[in-house]
Amino acid sequence: FISPHFPPLLPSFTPPAMLDLLVTHATLPDGRTGMSIAVQNGRITEVAAGLAAPAHQTVDAQGLLVSPPFVDAHFHMDATLSYGLPRVNQSGTLLEGIALWGELKPDLTQEALVQRALAYCDWAVGKGLLAIRSHVDICDPRLLAVEALLEVKHQVAPYLDLQLVAFPQDGALRDPQAMDKLQRALDMGVDVVGGIPHFERTMADGALSVKLLCELAAERGLLVDMHCDESDDPMSRHIETLTYETQRLGLQGRVTGSHLTSMHSMDNYYVSKLLPLMAEAQVNVVSNPLINITLQGRGDTYPKRRGMTRVPEMLAHGLTVALGQDCVMDPWYSLGSGDMLEVASMGLHVAQMTSQAAMRQCFDAVTVNPAKILHLDGYGLAPGCWADFVLLQAQDPVEAIRLRATRLQVYRRGKLLAQTPAATARLHLPGRPAQTDWLLREPG
Ligand code: FE2
Repeated sequence: FISPHFPPLLPSFTPPAMLDLLVTHATLPDGRTGMSIAVQNGRITEVAAGLAAPAHQTVDAQGLLVSPPFVDAHFHMDATLSYGLPRVNQSGTLLEGIALWGELKPDLTQEALVQRALAYCDWAVGKGLLAIRSHVDICDPRLLAVEALLEVKHQVAPYLDLQLVAFPQDGALRDPQAMDKLQRALDMGVDVVGGIPHFERTMADGALSVKLLCELAAERGLLVDMHCDESDDPMSRHIETLTYETQRLGLQGRVTGSHLTSMHSMDNYYVSKLLPLMAEAQVNVVSNPLINITLQGRGDTYPKRRGMTRVPEMLAHGLTVALGQDCVMDPWYSLGSGDMLEVASMGLHVAQMTSQAAMRQCFDAVTVNPAKILHLDGYGLAPGCWADFVLLQAQDPVEAIRLRATRLQVYRRGKLLAQTPAATARLHLPGRPAQTDWLLREPG
């Protein structure tokens, strides 16, 4: 596809004497088959059917899916891989997770933070996840995690885009020094303004925090991404204020509401007013299905609410919706591996997005949609875009989700970053094939 958000940088294609890389026989996420991708100087120079040109390296995709890399619009890299430190979350709730993170914070060292984050980035690259927006807690007066993740951002820059959000975990107003520390974090180079209005002491303070943080972002020309209404309380309506401030300050397309789980429990009549307002203000949404299905509804007996926000309805209103990972092995979540296809699969199931079109939307929600939310430069499979892509052991996006497909090869700027052997089972069955790879092929 050619995305209107990432216009080609080259006005026309002039065949170079020798390409750096040529991918052939690729299936693209939009369904085109037999496609070739030409790469020169780290960028895609042409995408065409059956293109043959001399290249230093040629990769035959053999009809398999070549996708732009996975993008995670919501993560916590300062907490990742800390599972069990200093203890495990017993209740499984968001609030015990926040308390547990508070217990861990005084014992954090910069070295350990950097090492855990780098290890997670290794996992991510192996899964074809090459851009991550991570919140970083700015409530520690030492700003240790900010320093550590800025160092990690610098170290991983050659292979992974790490975007950082200044996240006031203890409340932008509830922690009296949070606004000062948040400004210091932005001065140090953190990219995006965060927030957590549902954690403030009152609804009024929550609304005030949204106003102040959006004004700060507008003044500094920064994007906004708030944890917003991560609650089962149907009266948690900070998304209304976030939408209002987006409109008032002219921040359309630059503001993201993360989680929005209270919308699951809201009155339908109220939501019928809210969704068009969100669409008008072009507020982006990140839902985190693995975490929402785990943390929400914990106060319910039966029936238990799923807690995930209204993803299909938001897409139908034209909102840009991403599905995020949020947590991997930390105080809130004990599982995960940086596999955005697992995230897409959970989102698909929880939202019952089971039509062919809806399943493809779930693939977009871990690729092109988060790329748009992060305002990533040069993302996509089109001439002029960066030569960043993943060869998957699947024939189309739906099969990729179904199989959590093996990332056979991961490329960035036309260079191979990671490769994984194909998943195959050897069979020892009378009268049956010698192996299977779970791909659905036409018989014959
Ligand atoms: Fe989060």
